[in-house]
Amino acid sequence: MGYTYLLGGTKHFGWYEPGTSMWSFGTAMKRMEDELAARLALPAGARVLDAGCGTGAVACALAARAGLTVTGMDILDWNLETARKRAATGGVSDRTDFHLGDYHTLPFPDESFDGVYTMETLVHAADPATVLKEFNRVLRPGGRLVHFEYSHLPRNAMGEPAWAALEEVCRLAAMPAWMEFEDGVLDDLVSASGFAGVTTEDVTERMTPMVHAFYVLGVLPYFVGRMIGKVEKTVNAMSGVEMYRHRAAWSYTITTATKPE
Ligand SMILES: C[S@@+](CC[C@H](N)C(=O)[O-])C[C@H]1O[C@@H](n2cnc3c(N)ncnc32)[C@H](O)[C@@H]1O
Repeated sequence: MGYTYLLGGTKHFGWYEPGTSMWSFGTAMKRMEDELAARLALPAGARVLDAGCGTGAVACALAARAGLTVTGMDILDWNLETARKRAATGGVSDRTDFHLGDYHTLPFPDESFDGVYTMETLVHAADPATVLKEFNRVLRPGGRLVHFEYSHLPRNAMGEPAWAALEEVCRLAAMPAWMEFEDGVLDDLVSASGFAGVTTEDVTERMTPMVHAFYVLGVLPYFVGRMIGKVEKTVNAMSGVEMYRHRAAWSYTITTATKPE
């Protein structure tokens, strides 16, 4: 309900410039999508893979506002139905297509894309090293890789309450790779998968206002969920509350790289 009514089916955080209201979700999410397009830095018409596209909001935004030709893929078929409807409504059906699949085994030929990105999706991977090798395979030489994902401090620097909260969020929201993504680990995996020129930006400050808003909205449902022993039913509320409480322990990072020519 939260995703549908608050975020229009989009499942990523927003980008807030200093002084922006934490409630301006739509503007902030649009800005996050534009920041992604800027990191891809590809010309109109370039072919891009959105791995874990959800309901296609990012794919459609990049097709509409950056002129990219975007192939979305997701492991959940009901997301793809919504994505196709979104593309039709947005007038970008000719520049988007959506496939069912698991990004650990991509159903695309070698060197078939100019860019590949994940928007808050690689954290769900069971085996991120395998996924990155697949991304390398489907990218043409010179192609761009961009990840908007989460990382965290080493366990001994987080403290036990923050570590326990991270473990619970990752278990209930099915994000095994976030447990692995200690700061710097994703960059190392990207390099080890054959990419060059790896860069990382920590942009946590830009999206923390949205986590704050989710804390405000989630604190009561989460409290009730805990009281009645059904915290798994309030997983998004729990994530918002625990991520805001322990915001010093984790980061929102943008990783970019290029497949060598
Ligand atoms: C938090 S949502 C983000 C969706 C979208 N990127 C967005 O920003 O709106 C994570 C998405 O990753 C998808 N996903 C998780 N594991 C996947 C996998 N192994 N292969 C493909 N998609 C996957 C989920 O189905 C979900 O739609």
